[in-house]
Amino acid sequence: MAETLARLDTESPEDSSWINLHYHSGFGNHFSSEAKPGALPADQNNPLLCPFGLYAEQISGTSFTAPRRLNQRSWLYRIKPSVTHEPFHPRSPPHRRLVGDFNQSNSSANPTQLRWKPADPPDSPTDFVDGLYTVCGAGSAFLRHGYAIHMYTANKSMDGAFCNADGDFLIVPQEGRLWITTECGQLQVSPGEIVVLPQGFRFSINLPDGPSRGYVAEIFGTHFQLPDLGPIGSNGLAAARHFLTPTAWFEDRIHPGYIIVQKFGGELFTAKQDFSPFNVVAWHGNYVPYKYDLNKFCPFNSVLIDHGDPSINTVLTAPSDKPGVALLDFVIFPPRWLVAEHTFRPPYYHRNCMSEFMGLIFGQYEAKADGFLPGGASLHSCMTPHGPDTKTYEATIAQGDDAGPSRLRATMAFMFESSLIPRVCQWSLESPHLDPDYYQCWIGLRSHFSYNETDEVIDGIRNVSV
Ligand SMILES: [Fe+2]
Repeated sequence: MAETLARLDTESPEDSSWINLHYHSGFGNHFSSEAKPGALPADQNNPLLCPFGLYAEQISGTSFTAPRRLNQRSWLYRIKPSVTHEPFHPRSPPHRRLVGDFNQSNSSANPTQLRWKPADPPDSPTDFVDGLYTVCGAGSAFLRHGYAIHMYTANKSMDGAFCNADGDFLIVPQEGRLWITTECGQLQVSPGEIVVLPQGFRFSINLPDGPSRGYVAEIFGTHFQLPDLGPIGSNGLAAARHFLTPTAWFEDRIHPGYIIVQKFGGELFTAKQDFSPFNVVAWHGNYVPYKYDLNKFCPFNSVLIDHGDPSINTVLTAPSDKPGVALLDFVIFPPRWLVAEHTFRPPYYHRNCMSEFMGLIFGQYEAKADGFLPGGASLHSCMTPHGPDTKTYEATIAQGDDAGPSRLRATMAFMFESSLIPRVCQWSLESPHLDPDYYQCWIGLRSHFSYNETDEVIDGIRNVSV
């Protein structure tokens, strides 16, 4: 099994064990990983006695009978099984800002273009779980169809472990690295990378850089996959080999009062156990956490005329039951060359039957001259018009057709796009970071229509004099 050395971002004695992590390379592979040689049963999944006295435990990410091409499960070989804990109880205090079942009691319909400024760091110690809050979403974790979009601001590492029974998390850190310990091993995730933590895995997040901020897409009832490439061919966009899965890592630690926080139906429950849940000495399977460096994305673009649809930049897609219709696409707008001739190069004005939530990791987004800031967000729901702001439109038109090739540099925006219409949580609509003047960025768009009486009109089409 191929292993890849983690990218080195910084080097200091205290974090060398994190930045020197090893990973398995590939997307959708059936991996085998051992922290102790010989810990994996050689010929079967659950022998009477596992090597070294370990317990065998399967975690299923799809129904047992899912078609083989979709079936995801892994076998974990651990010091004590995860069932060894006291009963779950509702967490006290409850979270109050997480939603897993969107309805009129917790969220509302709102077709207005919405934009939020970046949230400030917490003013009291706050870990990833308490710093997480739902912005919008649709559907239900109970009915296994839908999604939630969350954001987080945090400044404290987690003490216990978190387990999301509702769906998969796709985390987009915008500020601050994440050191994530999972049952499959450890990952370092830096801004510019993303990480997917599948439904049911226990994990704990440390924040080595202190104040941290980011975005999370959660999907109910399905998993992310690589998009089909169609006529692009067999290469391009996100390459399977650039997805990195942790290698087996464990701690044999007695820990009385260890807390597991479980998100179940959008509510939090806690259970105590007396040992670390990160006690998996070996594992094999294809249901795993993974990360991806967005800088490795191979973008495609128009090389003569017109602006392509944003789907050309899809990194991962979570399918719905309808062919070609996503429950949720993760799309990026990375650095790239713009070369199209006599073409309006920023994104075109449009109304979309899909709904679009956007975030900005760093730099400036090509369609907004100002107001859309790193760490901020926007939401343009189903059929709500949107597009470049007035400054961007006027600057582009003023440049004319003499622009020549230009390169977008030092920018990384992204979009969560869904076929389901999101309901917006009340706290997001009442947030002090909501920009009440967002609509003003388009109000200045003036008419450029001009009409010359000498223009020749044939069959209702005006042949404009130049
Ligand atoms: Fe759009």
